[in-house]
Amino acid sequence: MEAVLGLLVISAGVSHGLETSCDAREDGSQCYGALGGTVYLQLTNITGYNELSFYKGPTGARTEILKMRMDKWLIKDTTIEDRVHFFINNGTFRLNNPRRNDSGEYLLQEFNSVGKLSGIRGLQLFIEAPVSSPQLSSECLSHGEMKVSCSSEGDGPQYSWTLDGQTLRDTETSPGEETNTITLKKDLSGDLTCTVRNNINSDTVSRRIVHCPGPVFNVFVYFQLAEVFILLTICLGSYCFYKKKTCPQEQDDGE
Ligand SMILES: *[C@@H]1O[C@H](CO)[C@@H](O)[C@H](O)[C@H]1NC(C)=O
Ligand SMILES: *[C@@H]1O[C@H](CO)[C@@H](O)[C@H](O)[C@H]1NC(C)=O
Ligand SMILES: *[C@@H]1O[C@H](CO)[C@@H](O)[C@H](O)[C@H]1NC(C)=O
Repeated sequence: MEAVLGLLVISAGVSHGLETSCDAREDGSQCYGALGGTVYLQLTNITGYNELSFYKGPTGARTEILKMRMDKWLIKDTTIEDRVHFFINNGTFRLNNPRRNDSGEYLLQEFNSVGKLSGIRGLQLFIEAPVSSPQLSSECLSHGEMKVSCSSEGDGPQYSWTLDGQTLRDTETSPGEETNTITLKKDLSGDLTCTVRNNINSDTVSRRIVHCPGPVFNVFVYFQLAEVFILLTICLGSYCFYKKKTCPQEQDDGE
């Protein structure tokens, strides 16, 4: 039972435990976090201020999340209290299990020893769904070409392809925005790799592909020729068979 529980915990950790960290010590940093994962935001250096406040929301409509003074810190926003932690030793803010509505503008204010505002920095946080393990599917087209699709879930996936380690050129990808599908020229084979990435993570799938059979038209012609040949053989065979059988009888009648 314990082993089963252990496995469950591990698999839950793999699918939901994506950690991202971001250096937000510069004004205007853009940080990304995985939906349901953990995001670390390094907000400040440990020196150079006496007090700090961290806010969520645009100027004019912001709520204070965190306040730190000397060596004490306090979460001011009770709605996310159970999901945040502040590492006072290195000025890092941790947000657990981020949701989409945690995305948005944040603001940090630092005050010096006499309580005067000494620094103000904004950051943008984007909480997005990570890409899932991509799946490949392929289909043979009528002229021996192969259409391969790579699919993955997640926010804003971007796809790229290689064949035997070589990036597949634009001429070999189908036109249009849908780059998760490519059309391979006939007679191409090798190790095909699809990489999918977004702002959060990336994942890859590879498969050895064997080229599609030649044009379907030719295959049909061969089949029809073979059919005609077999039919002819049968007809000829039966004709001879009957002729052999009937001819002597006709001769008998004649006598
Ligand atoms: C933090 O420290 C780094 C290097 O020590 C420095 O480049 C940076 O300007 C400092 N940032 C702040 C906000 O004090
Ligand atoms: C800050 O400290 C915490 C706990 O010691 C650690 O987990 C985290 O990785 C540190 N972050 C940085 C940016 O050093
Ligand atoms: C954010 O979304 C969660 C569900 O994902 C919801 O429970 C919560 O009330 C929302 N918070 C705000 C401030 O809208």
